[in-house]
Amino acid sequence: MLFFRDQPLDVESHKRFGRYFGELHIHPNTPGPEGHPEILPIHADANSKRVSGEYWHSDVSCDEEPPLGSILYLHTVPPCGGDTLFASQTAAYDALSPRMKVYLEGLTATHSGDHVYRRTNVLVGRDDKGKVFPKASHPIVRTHPVTKRKALFVNGHFTTHIDGLAPEESRAILNYLCEHSTREEFQVRFRWQPHSVAFWDNRSVQHLAIWDYYPQTRSGRRVTIKGDRPV
Ligand code: SIN
Repeated sequence: MLFFRDQPLDVESHKRFGRYFGELHIHPNTPGPEGHPEILPIHADANSKRVSGEYWHSDVSCDEEPPLGSILYLHTVPPCGGDTLFASQTAAYDALSPRMKVYLEGLTATHSGDHVYRRTNVLVGRDDKGKVFPKASHPIVRTHPVTKRKALFVNGHFTTHIDGLAPEESRAILNYLCEHSTREEFQVRFRWQPHSVAFWDNRSVQHLAIWDYYPQTRSGRRVTIKGDRPV
């Protein structure tokens, strides 16, 4: 993760900053504002029924080629609360027992957007009848294409099951991995100020947006950079 203070970014500058790192991703469920499909509004106030990122996840891990990274800018933050937690998935992998590392070798897991985005749509009153959301199978342990380090790549939000295992075994192992991968010792906690920017690598961290500031307002936007197929 990289964090920056005091960066009042307009929409064009935000998109330009993202494009230095690759093509921008368009969210499969939440359309950007008119003329800016690559912008994901991040907004919560007294009328909100949910917030983006309120469960541990890696952004849009249900895509065949999940995003490489995300750049979040907040211009309005609550007087207290609204922190974002990040958990290192390379640290989580490194801390697994040697036996568990061998067990996970070669296993894949299915990530689905269906239950995630339909829940959002029910809460915000958006009609998604007939819509098909992304679903993909990814290695449980992925190798980062740049650092070559191994990282866990499952999360409690999108990952539905481990492929090829009995449902009970899949559930037990997935529960263990989701709990393990978000342990406090792998975390960094970012405290926002107005005009802060957070830039994270979705290939090696999970994150969680804490909604502990209701009914206050927290507002900004995210651009997300396209990634490649996890290996
Ligand atoms: C997200 O991108 O998942 C939202 C993170 C946040 O609002 O802190």
